[in-house]
Amino acid sequence: MERTDTEGSTPRVAVVTGAGGGLGSVIAGELARDGCRVVLVDRDRTAAEQTAAAIGGAAAMVRAVDITAQGEVRELIDDIGARFGRLDVLVNSAGVERVHPLETLDESDWDLTMDVNVKGPMLLSRAAVPLWREQKSGAVVNISSRAWSGGSANASYASSKAALVGLTVSMAVELGPLGVRANAVAPSFVRTPFNESRTDVPDLAGMIERYTAFTPLRRLIDPSDVAHAVTFLASERARNITGEVLHVCAGSQLPPVP
Ligand SMILES: NC(=O)c1ccc[n+]([C@@H]2O[C@H](COP(=O)([O-])OP(=O)(O)OC[C@H]3O[C@@H](n4cnc5c(N)ncnc54)[C@H](O)[C@@H]3O)[C@@H](O)[C@H]2O)c1
Repeated sequence: MERTDTEGSTPRVAVVTGAGGGLGSVIAGELARDGCRVVLVDRDRTAAEQTAAAIGGAAAMVRAVDITAQGEVRELIDDIGARFGRLDVLVNSAGVERVHPLETLDESDWDLTMDVNVKGPMLLSRAAVPLWREQKSGAVVNISSRAWSGGSANASYASSKAALVGLTVSMAVELGPLGVRANAVAPSFVRTPFNESRTDVPDLAGMIERYTAFTPLRRLIDPSDVAHAVTFLASERARNITGEVLHVCAGSQLPPVP
């Protein structure tokens, strides 16, 4: 049975960016199971359509949007307003990672990473404020990363994910009086098809084994672990939780015992 926040109310409208990705697709599916109608946004239309096919009737709209282009983002949010009259949940999952040492960091990689991982979520959130003000509610979940607070030697990615936490806490304070909550989820390395086919990491299997052994729980993260955290934070069950960073990383955010 479809669940709604309020018995008898219409299903929530949820937007997921990066909905064609390894995590975004699973998050979209979990939000659908939690009773949302999901707007699937990705630069890659084919990938978003695959997610739509997987979630069936809960897919409310598929949109090919570059989240760094403010015109495209405004048009998307305007269309959502016109069609549904509301936007209850915004999950900013679209993201990029360029791996590099600082010494050879290319400015174009830095700019791209900041644009997609920080500016994109800001543009979507900014465009949604009028809808949130009108409906006096809203929930934003930004997909940051364990890398936001350390443990990653990847300057552009770590900086972008820390900035995304800054955006999240700022939004929580500014938009709280409108009834809007903003939280972040910070996963560590997730078992996704994308990660499992990475060629930029020599000895990926060995890296996964070492990483898993480093976590207090001795476990690797599954996309469903992240999706469950997102779905909770997006729901009324978390109605008094805002400005938080929920680590989904088997305890690897904790400093190891020396
Ligand atoms: N997979 C992991 O191990 C992991 C760990 C921690 C955090 N994260 C974060 O989780 C999020 C999702 O990761 P994923 O594993 O699903 O990655 P992914 O590469 O599988 O998917 C990312 C999606 O974002 C889309 N995208 C990229 N740039 C875009 C743009 N400008 N406009 C619209 N869409 C765009 C891509 O087309 C892709 O479908 C990212 O923000 C990532 O940084 C991932």
